[in-house]
Amino acid sequence: MTLSSERLTVGDVELDLLRPASPESLIDEEAFADDEFLPYWAELWPAALALAQALPDVEGLRVVELGCGLGVPSLVAAARGADVTATDWAAEAIDLLRENAARNGLLLRAEVRDWRDAWPERFDLALAADVLYERRNVEPLAARLRELAPTALVALAGRPYEDTFLRQAGEAIPIAERVVRLGR
Ligand SMILES: C[S@@+](CC[C@H](N)C(=O)[O-])C[C@H]1O[C@@H](n2cnc3c(N)ncnc32)[C@H](O)[C@@H]1O
Repeated sequence: MTLSSERLTVGDVELDLLRPASPESLIDEEAFADDEFLPYWAELWPAALALAQALPDVEGLRVVELGCGLGVPSLVAAARGADVTATDWAAEAIDLLRENAARNGLLLRAEVRDWRDAWPERFDLALAADVLYERRNVEPLAARLRELAPTALVALAGRPYEDTFLRQAGEAIPIAERVVRLGR
């Protein structure tokens, strides 16, 4: 995989981010046939930046990110002193996030997890950016976000299933233009 590097500034945090130079070249027809897997992890989606910019004070909090992709919100939370677990079902995303954390001198846990499975750990804050692009993900994401942490920040991207998710999730308080808070 050919990588390119990019400097990103999010508030007081500067990141030197490696990312795939050509995400389309990562499409694997077998993986798609198996579980409709597409390499969406390899793009830096605007919702991830919106979520990173909208992060509250996370110092000392246990933070989990679901479907982290390149993991910019997780990297920013780690830089601000959170105890971060970043997760994605794409192993390549997790490998690259570990490399990006090391490259920026940051400590975080990055783990392959599928949000359709229940996990034993619990956190103070859950994060997710641009994850509501398929109908099949609405219920599993609502369940995971509810059980993993008392508060979730979800960055929206104008995808068709976000309304369904927000209706099912009940109360949602906008905390920034594209980010909603669920729970307390
Ligand atoms: C549109 S991308 C968003 C990536 C990142 N959050 C961002 O905003 O840049 C959706 C992400 O969800 C991940 N994903 C999709 N289905 C998943 C599942 N069942 N469990 C965990 N991650 C999943 C993808 O691998 C991808 O990284």
